[in-house]
Amino acid sequence: RKPLTLHRLRAMHAAGEKLAMLTCYDAAFAGVLDAAGVDILLVGDSLGMVLQGRDSTLPVTVPEMAYHTACVARGRRSAWLVADLPFGSYQQSTAQAIESAVALMQAGAQMVKLEGGGWTVPVVAALVERGIPVCAHLGLTPQSVHALGGWRVQGRDEAAAAQLLADAQALAEAGAAMMVLELVPSALAARVQQAVNIPMIGIGAGPGTAGQVLVLHDMLGLNGQNVPRFVRNFIADVGPTDNPVQEAVRRYVAAVKDGSFPDAVLHGYQ
Ligand code: KIV
Ligand code: NA
Repeated sequence: RKPLTLHRLRAMHAAGEKLAMLTCYDAAFAGVLDAAGVDILLVGDSLGMVLQGRDSTLPVTVPEMAYHTACVARGRRSAWLVADLPFGSYQQSTAQAIESAVALMQAGAQMVKLEGGGWTVPVVAALVERGIPVCAHLGLTPQSVHALGGWRVQGRDEAAAAQLLADAQALAEAGAAMMVLELVPSALAARVQQAVNIPMIGIGAGPGTAGQVLVLHDMLGLNGQNVPRFVRNFIADVGPTDNPVQEAVRRYVAAVKDGSFPDAVLHGYQ
Protein backbone atom coordinates (compact mmCIF):
# COMPACT_ATOMS: atom_id res chain seq x y z
CA ARG A 1 0.00 0.00 0.00
CA LYS A 2 1.26 3.48 -0.88
CA PRO A 3 1.88 5.79 2.10
CA LEU A 4 -1.14 7.88 3.02
CA THR A 5 -0.46 11.59 2.64
CA LEU A 6 -2.65 14.56 3.45
CA HIS A 7 -3.10 14.97 -0.30
CA ARG A 8 -4.36 11.39 -0.66
CA LEU A 9 -6.60 11.65 2.40
CA ARG A 10 -8.20 14.77 0.88
CA ALA A 11 -8.65 12.95 -2.43
CA MET A 12 -10.27 9.98 -0.68
CA HIS A 13 -12.63 12.34 1.16
CA ALA A 14 -13.46 14.18 -2.09
CA ALA A 15 -14.21 10.82 -3.74
CA GLY A 16 -16.57 9.88 -0.91
CA GLU A 17 -14.40 7.11 0.52
CA LYS A 18 -14.83 6.77 4.27
CA LEU A 19 -11.68 7.10 6.40
CA ALA A 20 -10.95 4.44 9.03
CA MET A 21 -8.98 5.59 12.07
CA LEU A 22 -8.05 3.70 15.26
CA THR A 23 -6.00 4.63 18.27
CA CYS A 24 -2.61 2.94 18.47
CA TYR A 25 0.08 3.19 21.11
CA ASP A 26 2.89 0.79 20.18
CA ALA A 27 4.86 -0.74 17.32
CA ALA A 28 3.30 -4.21 17.47
CA PHE A 29 -0.25 -2.93 17.04
CA ALA A 30 0.92 -0.35 14.49
CA GLY A 31 2.12 -3.16 12.24
CA VAL A 32 -1.11 -5.13 12.64
CA LEU A 33 -3.38 -2.11 12.08
CA ASP A 34 -1.40 -0.95 9.07
CA ALA A 35 -1.55 -4.42 7.50
CA ALA A 36 -5.31 -4.53 8.16
CA GLY A 37 -5.80 -1.35 6.11
CA VAL A 38 -6.39 1.31 8.76
CA ASP A 39 -5.97 4.70 7.08
CA ILE A 40 -5.06 6.77 10.14
CA LEU A 41 -3.38 5.79 13.42
CA LEU A 42 -4.05 8.09 16.37
CA VAL A 43 -1.62 8.09 19.26
CA GLY A 44 -4.37 9.33 21.55
CA ASP A 45 -3.87 10.71 25.01
CA SER A 46 -6.51 8.09 25.85
CA LEU A 47 -3.36 6.07 26.53
CA GLY A 48 -3.45 7.69 29.96
CA MET A 49 -6.61 5.72 30.70
CA VAL A 50 -6.08 2.65 28.49
CA LEU A 51 -2.39 1.95 29.17
CA GLN A 52 -1.68 3.84 32.38
CA GLY A 53 -4.93 3.07 34.21
CA ARG A 54 -5.73 6.67 35.06
CA ASP A 55 -9.21 8.13 35.57
CA SER A 56 -8.80 10.78 32.86
CA THR A 57 -6.37 11.96 30.18
CA LEU A 58 -5.25 15.01 32.19
CA PRO A 59 -2.00 13.61 33.71
CA VAL A 60 -0.48 12.58 30.34
CA THR A 61 2.71 14.46 29.41
CA VAL A 62 4.48 15.45 26.19
CA PRO A 63 7.44 13.05 26.82
CA GLU A 64 4.96 10.18 27.30
CA MET A 65 3.16 11.09 24.07
CA ALA A 66 6.49 11.40 22.24
CA TYR A 67 7.58 7.97 23.50
CA HIS A 68 4.42 6.25 22.23
CA THR A 69 4.47 8.24 18.99
CA ALA A 70 8.03 7.04 18.31
CA CYS A 71 6.97 3.43 19.02
CA VAL A 72 4.03 3.66 16.60
CA ALA A 73 6.14 5.43 13.97
CA ARG A 74 8.58 2.50 13.96
CA GLY A 75 5.81 -0.06 13.52
CA ARG A 76 3.71 1.61 10.84
CA ARG A 77 4.31 1.46 7.10
CA SER A 78 1.75 3.50 5.21
CA ALA A 79 -0.95 4.71 7.62
CA TRP A 80 -1.13 8.45 8.39
CA LEU A 81 0.10 9.15 11.92
CA VAL A 82 -1.64 11.65 14.20
CA ALA A 83 -0.55 12.35 17.80
CA ASP A 84 -2.48 14.15 20.55
CA LEU A 85 -1.10 17.26 22.19
CA PRO A 86 -1.77 16.39 25.84
CA PHE A 87 -3.50 18.58 28.44
CA GLY A 88 -1.37 21.55 29.50
CA SER A 89 0.96 21.38 26.49
CA TYR A 90 -0.76 24.05 24.32
CA GLN A 91 -3.06 26.03 26.65
CA GLN A 92 -0.46 28.54 27.83
CA SER A 93 0.59 30.20 24.59
CA THR A 94 1.13 29.71 20.89
CA ALA A 95 4.86 29.39 21.59
CA GLN A 96 4.18 26.53 24.01
CA ALA A 97 1.92 24.82 21.46
CA ILE A 98 4.61 25.05 18.78
CA GLU A 99 7.26 23.63 21.12
CA SER A 100 5.00 20.71 22.12
CA ALA A 101 3.98 20.02 18.52
CA VAL A 102 7.64 20.04 17.43
CA ALA A 103 8.41 17.36 20.03
CA LEU A 104 5.64 15.11 18.66
CA MET A 105 6.55 15.76 15.01
CA GLN A 106 10.20 14.95 15.75
CA ALA A 107 9.04 11.72 17.40
CA GLY A 108 7.40 10.76 14.10
CA ALA A 109 3.92 12.28 14.07
CA GLN A 110 2.67 13.67 10.75
CA MET A 111 -0.15 15.70 12.30
CA VAL A 112 -1.01 16.85 15.81
CA LYS A 113 -4.46 16.94 17.38
CA LEU A 114 -5.69 19.44 19.94
CA GLU A 115 -9.03 19.90 21.67
CA GLY A 116 -11.50 22.75 21.68
CA GLY A 117 -12.74 25.73 19.66
CA GLY A 118 -12.61 29.48 20.23
CA TRP A 119 -9.20 30.25 21.73
CA THR A 120 -7.58 27.35 19.81
CA VAL A 121 -8.27 28.99 16.42
CA PRO A 122 -5.14 31.24 16.42
CA VAL A 123 -3.09 28.33 17.84
CA VAL A 124 -4.20 26.11 14.95
CA ALA A 125 -3.38 28.88 12.45
CA ALA A 126 0.11 29.34 13.94
CA LEU A 127 0.89 25.60 13.75
CA VAL A 128 -0.43 25.29 10.19
CA GLU A 129 1.56 28.37 9.08
CA ARG A 130 4.68 26.64 10.41
CA GLY A 131 4.09 23.48 8.41
CA ILE A 132 2.50 21.37 11.13
CA PRO A 133 -0.76 19.74 9.99
CA VAL A 134 -3.50 19.96 12.62
CA CYS A 135 -6.50 17.82 13.48
CA ALA A 136 -9.07 19.66 15.61
CA HIS A 137 -11.36 17.95 18.14
CA LEU A 138 -14.83 19.20 19.11
CA GLY A 139 -17.84 17.86 21.01
CA LEU A 140 -16.89 15.91 24.13
CA THR A 141 -13.29 17.00 24.65
CA PRO A 142 -11.90 14.69 27.35
CA GLN A 143 -9.25 17.16 28.54
CA SER A 144 -12.18 19.38 29.65
CA VAL A 145 -14.10 16.54 31.32
CA HIS A 146 -14.27 18.32 34.67
CA ALA A 147 -15.54 21.57 33.15
CA LEU A 148 -18.08 19.65 31.06
CA GLY A 149 -19.45 17.81 34.10
CA GLY A 150 -18.60 14.30 32.96
CA TRP A 151 -18.74 12.17 29.81
CA ARG A 152 -21.93 13.57 28.33
CA VAL A 153 -23.30 14.04 24.84
CA GLN A 154 -22.48 17.59 23.63
CA GLY A 155 -24.35 20.03 21.38
CA ARG A 156 -27.82 18.84 22.33
CA ASP A 157 -29.49 22.24 22.62
CA GLU A 158 -29.73 24.68 19.72
CA ALA A 159 -27.26 27.22 21.17
CA ALA A 160 -24.60 24.57 21.81
CA ALA A 161 -25.17 23.09 18.35
CA ALA A 162 -24.78 26.52 16.71
CA GLN A 163 -21.58 27.14 18.70
CA LEU A 164 -20.13 23.78 17.66
CA LEU A 165 -20.90 24.50 13.99
CA ALA A 166 -19.32 27.98 14.24
CA ASP A 167 -16.22 26.53 15.97
CA ALA A 168 -15.86 23.86 13.28
CA GLN A 169 -16.04 26.48 10.51
CA ALA A 170 -13.50 28.74 12.26
CA LEU A 171 -11.07 25.84 12.82
CA ALA A 172 -11.33 24.75 9.17
CA GLU A 173 -10.73 28.36 8.05
CA ALA A 174 -7.69 28.50 10.35
CA GLY A 175 -6.30 25.53 8.41
CA ALA A 176 -7.25 22.43 10.38
CA ALA A 177 -7.15 19.61 7.82
CA MET A 178 -9.21 17.13 9.80
CA MET A 179 -11.47 17.17 12.84
CA VAL A 180 -12.64 14.64 15.41
CA LEU A 181 -16.27 15.00 16.53
CA GLU A 182 -16.84 13.10 19.77
CA LEU A 183 -20.15 12.27 21.41
CA VAL A 184 -22.51 14.59 19.55
CA PRO A 185 -26.00 13.91 18.16
CA SER A 186 -25.82 12.17 14.78
CA ALA A 187 -27.90 14.86 13.04
CA LEU A 188 -25.56 17.61 14.28
CA ALA A 189 -22.44 15.71 13.19
CA ALA A 190 -23.93 15.24 9.72
CA ARG A 191 -24.84 18.94 9.57
CA VAL A 192 -21.29 19.98 10.50
CA GLN A 193 -19.82 17.58 7.91
CA GLN A 194 -22.06 19.09 5.22
CA ALA A 195 -21.11 22.65 6.21
CA VAL A 196 -17.36 22.15 6.50
CA ASN A 197 -15.23 20.84 3.67
CA ILE A 198 -12.66 18.87 5.67
CA PRO A 199 -13.07 15.26 6.81
CA MET A 200 -14.83 14.92 10.17
CA ILE A 201 -13.85 11.77 12.04
CA GLY A 202 -16.69 10.72 14.29
CA ILE A 203 -16.73 8.78 17.55
CA GLY A 204 -20.18 8.45 19.04
CA ALA A 205 -21.28 10.89 16.33
CA GLY A 206 -23.32 8.64 14.04
CA PRO A 207 -22.77 7.61 10.41
CA GLY A 208 -22.83 11.08 8.80
CA THR A 209 -19.12 11.93 9.10
CA ALA A 210 -16.35 11.33 6.55
CA GLY A 211 -14.57 8.92 8.85
CA GLN A 212 -14.73 7.02 12.12
CA VAL A 213 -12.40 6.43 15.04
CA LEU A 214 -12.56 4.07 18.01
CA VAL A 215 -10.22 3.37 20.88
CA LEU A 216 -8.42 0.17 19.83
CA HIS A 217 -8.84 -1.59 23.17
CA ASP A 218 -12.59 -0.82 23.20
CA MET A 219 -13.24 -2.37 19.78
CA LEU A 220 -11.14 -5.41 20.76
CA GLY A 221 -13.27 -5.98 23.86
CA LEU A 222 -10.38 -5.34 26.25
CA ASN A 223 -12.17 -2.60 28.19
CA GLY A 224 -14.32 -4.66 30.55
CA GLN A 225 -16.46 -2.11 32.32
CA ASN A 226 -18.07 1.06 31.07
CA VAL A 227 -18.00 0.31 27.37
CA PRO A 228 -19.82 3.23 25.72
CA ARG A 229 -22.87 2.41 23.62
CA PHE A 230 -21.23 3.71 20.42
CA VAL A 231 -18.53 1.00 20.55
CA ARG A 232 -18.83 -2.25 18.65
CA ASN A 233 -16.72 -5.25 19.63
CA PHE A 234 -15.20 -6.38 16.32
CA ILE A 235 -13.30 -9.39 17.65
CA ALA A 236 -16.28 -11.16 19.27
CA ASP A 237 -17.41 -12.81 16.02
CA VAL A 238 -13.96 -13.63 14.63
CA GLY A 239 -13.61 -17.39 14.55
CA PRO A 240 -10.36 -19.36 14.91
CA THR A 241 -7.74 -17.78 12.69
CA ASP A 242 -3.99 -17.09 12.72
CA ASN A 243 -4.28 -13.43 13.63
CA PRO A 244 -7.65 -12.63 15.23
CA VAL A 245 -6.67 -9.04 16.07
CA GLN A 246 -5.77 -8.29 12.47
CA GLU A 247 -9.00 -9.93 11.28
CA ALA A 248 -11.06 -7.87 13.75
CA VAL A 249 -9.41 -4.67 12.56
CA ARG A 250 -9.86 -5.69 8.92
CA ARG A 251 -13.60 -6.09 9.65
CA TYR A 252 -13.67 -2.67 11.32
CA VAL A 253 -12.07 -1.06 8.26
CA ALA A 254 -14.52 -2.85 5.95
CA ALA A 255 -17.51 -1.81 8.09
CA VAL A 256 -16.41 1.83 8.13
CA LYS A 257 -15.79 1.82 4.37
CA ASP A 258 -19.15 0.23 3.47
CA GLY A 259 -21.06 2.34 5.99
CA SER A 260 -22.31 -0.57 8.11
CA PHE A 261 -20.50 0.87 11.15
CA PRO A 262 -21.66 2.88 12.96
CA ASP A 263 -25.31 1.88 12.93
CA ALA A 264 -27.53 4.97 13.10
CA VAL A 265 -29.79 3.45 15.76
CA LEU A 266 -27.45 1.21 17.78
CA HIS A 267 -24.41 3.52 17.94
CA GLY A 268 -25.82 7.04 17.52
CA TYR A 269 -27.29 9.69 19.84
CA GLN A 270 -30.19 12.07 19.38
O1 KIV B 1 -7.28 10.07 22.79
C1 KIV B 1 -8.08 9.51 22.02
O2 KIV B 1 -8.18 8.28 21.93
C2 KIV B 1 -8.93 10.35 21.18
C3 KIV B 1 -9.97 9.69 20.34
C4 KIV B 1 -11.04 9.10 21.16
C5 KIV B 1 -10.52 10.59 19.30
O3 KIV B 1 -8.77 11.56 21.21
NA1 NA C 1 -7.40 12.30 22.82
